[in-house]
Parts: sequence; C-alpha cells; structure tokens
Amino acid sequence: MSDSANNALVIALSKGRIFKETLPLLAHAGIEPVDDPESSRKLILDTNRDDVKLLILRATDVPTFVQYGAADLGVAGKDVLMEHGGEGLYEPVDLNIARCRLMTAGRVGDSGTDGRRLRVATKFVNCTRRFYAERGEQVEIIKLYGSMELAPLVALADRIVDVVDTGNTLRANGLEPLEHIADISSRLIVNKAAMKMKHARVKAVIDDITEAVVQGGR
Ligand code: ATP
Ligand code: PRP
Repeated sequence: MSDSANNALVIALSKGRIFKETLPLLAHAGIEPVDDPESSRKLILDTNRDDVKLLILRATDVPTFVQYGAADLGVAGKDVLMEHGGEGLYEPVDLNIARCRLMTAGRVGDSGTDGRRLRVATKFVNCTRRFYAERGEQVEIIKLYGSMELAPLVALADRIVDVVDTGNTLRANGLEPLEHIADISSRLIVNKAAMKMKHARVKAVIDDITEAVVQGGR
C-alpha cells in the first residue's frame, strides 16, 4: 500500500529552490526532513514525524502526483500549475517563494517575421497556446524540455516562453523580455480527496504554513 493510502501524510516537493524555500515553512508546521535530498539518493524522505513523508520529484510532476493522490500535499510553481490545469487540486496558499514572471522573449532588436507564422519554443505549451489564442495570433509551438534560450539563437524559433527572474539568462544570450504573461510564485496544493479524508492533519499543515508565510511577509 502507498504511504498516502497507508495514512501517512505525504508531501511532494522538488529539489533545489522549492525544497530550500519550503523547508522553513515546513519547520513552522513541525515537519523536518531527516535526509537532505541534495546528498541522499532517496526519493521518499523520512521526517522527524513518523506520520509525515516527503516525496522528491521533478518540479513538473508535483501536480500529477497530488492530483492522483500519490501525495496529499505538494508545492508547485504557478507556471507548472497553469500548464497542468489544476484538475483534482486545491490551491489554498500562495507561499510567495520562487517568484518570477512567465514571459515571451526574443532576440534583441528582432523585428518580426514578415507575415510568416511566429514559431515559439517552450516547455509551457498549454500556457503559450492560450496566451497567443487570446490575442488572436496563430503561432507554431515547438515543445522543448530545457535551454529554451538557445532556440532563437539557432533559428529554431522566433520567440520563447519561459520564466524570467533577474533577466540574466536572457541577457547572456542576446535575448530580451517582450510580453508579460503571468506573475509566478509557488503554491501549496492539496489533493481534493485528502482534504476530506485527512482533514484535521491537512488543515493543520495549511494553517501552520499560512501563519509562517504571513510572519515571513511582515
Ligand atoms: P523541471 O526539473 O521539472 O524541468 P525546473 O527545472 O523548472 O523543473 P526549478 O528550476 O526547481 O525546476 O524551478 C521550480 C519553480 O521555481 C518553477 O516552476 C518556477 O515557478 C520557479 N522558478 C524557476 N526559475 C526561477 C528563477 N530563476 N527564479 C525564481 N523562481 C524560479
Ligand atoms: C530558470 C529559467 C531561466 C532562468 C531565469 O532556469 O528556465 O533560464 O531560471 O532566471 P533569470 O532571469 O534570473 O536568469 P534554472 O532554474 O535552470 O536557472 P537558475 O537555477 O540559474 O535560476
């Protein structure tokens, strides 16, 4: 039986910035991992609480594990949630961490495509389709899994859609941000069934984390 079905409370996180920035929020809820995912090869981490486990996933997979109840709670970027669609999930808390912007970008000074359909490279295919559809623009979308910034440099695409924080990655590659699609931060997400079935424990984690976010923002 899975830990989630087994009545442990299972929280899905991704390594790197989300894990690091979520740690103090979890600590406020009395949850501390026993292992460090940066050094451990384990994908299920024990915590100081017997009834709480952490899953370490690719950032883009966190909503899927929570949607299907393989994890009860998770932390995911709004970019990833917009792309996933949010089915089967509640999104009760904006954690105000991993803040960035989802943007279109292109080569500095690029003046367009002379009427040819714009080619846009991105890992955010659904967000990109929606963004251009709302503007009534027909574009060709090329799905990539990383290093999007390369696409305009080698004439694979005219534009990219990616997250931008400092803008350093764009600048270093001769690109500039163009249109703003959405402000992004990471959210606490909850499986809809777990919200009912494990209500007291899920609610306690939501309340403690909300309190930590509010205190952190003061
Ligand atoms: P995957 O491994 O699934 O491709 P990823 O490499 O995008 O995902 P991270 O780099 O850990 O995973 O990013 C996690 C989340 O942090 C993103 O979904 C986004 O919301 C946010 N994020 C990404 N890049 C930045 C950045 N440079 N500054 C601030 N927040 C960011
Ligand atoms: C993300 C994203 C961009 C970059 C934007 O990548 O895919 O490439 O961050 O951040 P910037 O505007 O501050 O340059 P990734 O998470 O791989 O890079 P990072 O860890 O260096 O931020």
